[in-house]
Amino acid sequence: MKNLTSLSLKTVQGELFVLDQTLLPQRQLWLLCQTVPAMVAMIKALQLRGAPAIGIGACLLLAYRASVGDSREQLLLDAEVLRAARPTAVNLMNNLDTMIAALAQDDYKAAAIACAEQLFAEDVALCQRMAEHGAALVQQGEQLLTHCNTGGLATAGVGTALGVINLAHQQGKNIRLWVDETRPLLQGGRLTAWECQQLGIPYQLICDNMAAMLMARGQVDRIFVGSDRIAANGDFANKVGTYSLAVLAHYHQVPFYVVAPHTTVDLACADGSAIPIEQRDANEVRGVSGAFGSAIWAPEQASVFNPAFDVTPAELVTGWVLDTGVYSQADIAMGILQRVIRK
Ligand code: MRU
Repeated sequence: MKNLTSLSLKTVQGELFVLDQTLLPQRQLWLLCQTVPAMVAMIKALQLRGAPAIGIGACLLLAYRASVGDSREQLLLDAEVLRAARPTAVNLMNNLDTMIAALAQDDYKAAAIACAEQLFAEDVALCQRMAEHGAALVQQGEQLLTHCNTGGLATAGVGTALGVINLAHQQGKNIRLWVDETRPLLQGGRLTAWECQQLGIPYQLICDNMAAMLMARGQVDRIFVGSDRIAANGDFANKVGTYSLAVLAHYHQVPFYVVAPHTTVDLACADGSAIPIEQRDANEVRGVSGAFGSAIWAPEQASVFNPAFDVTPAELVTGWVLDTGVYSQADIAMGILQRVIRK
């Protein structure tokens, strides 16, 4: 396998390493990943996270397993185990389907490696195209807002929503960014803030419940978020808290964009109600934990509701920024997603 490098995944002389995102920004620790159970555990624990990154990581691991001699039958069984690691991001399922098709070839080992390399390279290219389409929407001096982490850590390339924001910054548009901290797991406060530091994007971190006040004051010009799955009618799932941002944006008439590769569209889901939503451990809400330490502040037995994602209805979205272009509600109603996917 070629040596590949992204912010969260790298292959070195055929071995796969994953940057442990639960330890960021305090520690940068690369973990060697050699087995399917190890990859499943990393995805479940969010050591590897972000819709495109988990799909590519799963396929890189299968390519590694092929390279060390696992049989086709074993790899096909493993693909199903990996598919079940997290339920919401359809990129995981789509990438595994591509890998399963590659495994049907006679020389399945070479095909598995070529497939994983191709998925990685494709994601880099998709991110670049989304960034170009989205950055064109940003005007000079705008104040932007984003939720969760959608940057290089979550993809093989420059990211989805954060890729757009970074390109607008690189284009000298003099933007400023509000970063939602994103409870419960703080992907904004830990990961997006860390990426913004590296990229030199001027940002200010806010608690999720501060966005309304900023919008009321006219201090948010445009919102960009990512997605884990977009249904055929344009409804989409993203990190919990995205829906409340979209409602706020609608009330305050702030343009609200979802940025995702076409591999995030799932035509099998007619609308958002068909998107499976992952429920996570109660202790994530009872307190916090990470390289910074851990604390539980709620009563130990507190009953908790902890969905990892919520669904934003299409009617609240100003535009869908895909690698193929930017689409409006009218485009979506006319079936543009179906045309983009069937191409
Ligand atoms: O639970 P996470 O951290 O994997 O959630 C990630 C998100 O919700 C992102 O916004 C989404 O995957 C799109 S990022 C390219």
